[in-house]
Amino acid sequence: MGLLFYLYLSASIVLMGEEVNAAIHLRSWDTRNGLKVSSRKKGSNANPEIRQRISRRLEELYRRHLSRHDEEVVSFYEPGVGYNKPKQFVEAEQKPFAISLVTMDGEVFQAGDYNLPFALQSISKVFVYGLALEDYGRDHVLERVGVEPSGDAFNSIVFDERNNRPFNPMVNAGALATTNLVVSGDTAEQALKRILGILRRYAGNWSLEVNEVTFEAEMRTADRNRATAYLMRSDGMLGGDVETTLALYLQQCSVSVTCQDLALMAATLANGGANPATGEQALAPRYVRDVLSVMHTCGMYDFAGQWAYRIGIPAKSGVSGGILAVVPGKLGIGVFSPGLDAYGNSVRSTAVCEEISERLGLHIFAGAGEDALLGPGT
Ligand code: DON
Repeated sequence: MGLLFYLYLSASIVLMGEEVNAAIHLRSWDTRNGLKVSSRKKGSNANPEIRQRISRRLEELYRRHLSRHDEEVVSFYEPGVGYNKPKQFVEAEQKPFAISLVTMDGEVFQAGDYNLPFALQSISKVFVYGLALEDYGRDHVLERVGVEPSGDAFNSIVFDERNNRPFNPMVNAGALATTNLVVSGDTAEQALKRILGILRRYAGNWSLEVNEVTFEAEMRTADRNRATAYLMRSDGMLGGDVETTLALYLQQCSVSVTCQDLALMAATLANGGANPATGEQALAPRYVRDVLSVMHTCGMYDFAGQWAYRIGIPAKSGVSGGILAVVPGKLGIGVFSPGLDAYGNSVRSTAVCEEISERLGLHIFAGAGEDALLGPGT
């Protein structure tokens, strides 16, 4: 069965208790994921008292949010269907909920359905943007896609006309531009291989794959993205074959991940681009700040300003209900719950991130005395 099962079992058991010690070490991964089994990192600087404090708060947070926020949900997303789902599906989908935290020592704290797969969706934009930066460098990528919050919905067909480019890589038009960059000069197969390779490296999970059912459904209902892409090509914002770019974009959106994967991916960004569990570099350190900057200003669509003000952690959401949030140098956060608000962000995941930020003093502009992870905290 392997060590990975042991990790999940351990987490489930500890979540039943009042006193939680969820200091589970991702360095003990099962080799089925292609990772070496290695021992706990020496010299971990997280002391047991802090670990227990985080675990207790996580457990309490999970339980409380599990029974809240249903009334705030305005829609659910299902590939091939869209946002307006019949009531019976809505009820079935209100249950999945997971919170995962990964420290810079590769320790994971988690609660709920953290092993449940869902489509990465728009969160993939973060990693493909990083790949485009590595392929072409900052200046060239900036010519093709800006770094300005659009203030519009993620699927808006409005462009930065002054510069003839999409506003930023976190909205669909910008993501189409970055995916287009990654595939130019490559075959579609090679480009997909590279994208999958990089996602796996961020997550430290060599089994990440495109969910073909999701992809097929996304392709069937891609009218708006297709229209956006053709319009972009007609204005010179996109090169090559539109259908190839569109398919690749929807494939990256259709990669199945778990909440634990999300937290690992976030932790990799928090750790200067190096996966804290495997030590592998997923993104060159000089581009980490570029990626985090656009996440911070544009990652939550037209809620990005409110998110930066209230939560203050670079983050990215996807329509499946996942949110990936990065606390540089400290923590990777993954939260998953499918009910969405009017902006297309997960209601419960947003509320959880807000509370984690508040209670652990993680807002990037919080004072040192508010920092419960490294400082005295409350
Ligand atoms: O581009 C689309 O329509 C979706 N497949 C992905 C969108 C998404 O996740 C944007 N989200 N919040």
